[in-house]
Amino acid sequence: MVQTDEMTTIKQDALEAVEKAQDAQALQAVKVQYLGKKGLVTGLMKHMKDLPKEEKPAYGQKVNEVRQAIEAAIETRQVTLNEAALNEQLAQESIDVTLPGRAVANGAAHPLTRTIEEIEDLFLGLGYEIVTGYEVEQDYYNFEALNLPKSHPARDMQDSFYITEDILMRTHTSPVQARTLEQRNGKGPVKIICPGKVYRRDSDDATHSHQFTQIEGLVVDENIKMSDLKGTLELLAKSLFGADREIRLRPSYFPFTEPSVEVDVSCFKCKGKGCNVCKQTGWIEILGAGMVHPNVLEMAGFDSKKYSGFAFGMGPDRIAMLKYGIEDIRHFYTNDVRFLNQFKGVEDRGETTC
Ligand code: DAH
Repeated sequence: MVQTDEMTTIKQDALEAVEKAQDAQALQAVKVQYLGKKGLVTGLMKHMKDLPKEEKPAYGQKVNEVRQAIEAAIETRQVTLNEAALNEQLAQESIDVTLPGRAVANGAAHPLTRTIEEIEDLFLGLGYEIVTGYEVEQDYYNFEALNLPKSHPARDMQDSFYITEDILMRTHTSPVQARTLEQRNGKGPVKIICPGKVYRRDSDDATHSHQFTQIEGLVVDENIKMSDLKGTLELLAKSLFGADREIRLRPSYFPFTEPSVEVDVSCFKCKGKGCNVCKQTGWIEILGAGMVHPNVLEMAGFDSKKYSGFAFGMGPDRIAMLKYGIEDIRHFYTNDVRFLNQFKGVEDRGETTC
């Protein structure tokens, strides 16, 4: 019987094709080819209409058997292919549990952060508040409110990056003094330190950077005297550079303080004898300070007859360079991990490395 032969061939071909299918896609193609709507097995049913009535049931049953055999083969093949695919994936993703683990790179506080936090800790312990201002600042707070009117020659010492004629990258942290005083409505006490980044138009070299850090200090109350400033800075010097350090105040000039001083600390390396760190002088300059100028108090709404104050400004970059023997300020900002890694485990808050 023609149909039966054809049926057998189709079945054999189909089973062979199923076995040959190497992946799910190929198997699906075989399924469509034989069992799909226009498939070969479906096509067999078309012969039904040419058969005598009594042969139709038997023929239909045979076609169904062929269909079921192919379906079963496809299903079995599908399981085999899935398993093979899974095995291959597992083989590719296999983990060698005997390999040594990868070391986790631990971070460490940046030497500048370390220095700033050390100074903050000291002043927090003395009852100061930490106040931060704005790096983009108004000319008024950066200069004018600090007794530096537009034409003041001392402005030239602090050339900056201007955003507009009246807005600039702040050149020091002193504007935070002016802002804080203004907010206190003429009422003391004010006891703050202000850490932050500052900017100057400077060519970068080993000791200058167009961006660096400062910490400002300000105390305003009744009866604040120069001796309060000296005692505070002495404590700072000892805490940063060792208990046997001394300080010395030299007359200086800042428009926002009167009198103004430059503060030196006795050299921690040679103990005052003279060495390369102190340039043979026995002293290292660490900050500027003074008694708050009455004009600064008055401009911010404080009665300068009733209130007085002291202020100081220091550079954590320079202090960290001295403490850790760093010779180039640019190391702080280029963030080369070979440099930063050297500060891992340096937990000496208050100790010098020299
Ligand atoms: N603002 C000064 C500067 O950047 C530093 C300074 C000096 C701040 C004396 C002060 C001060 O508060 O009293 O050069």
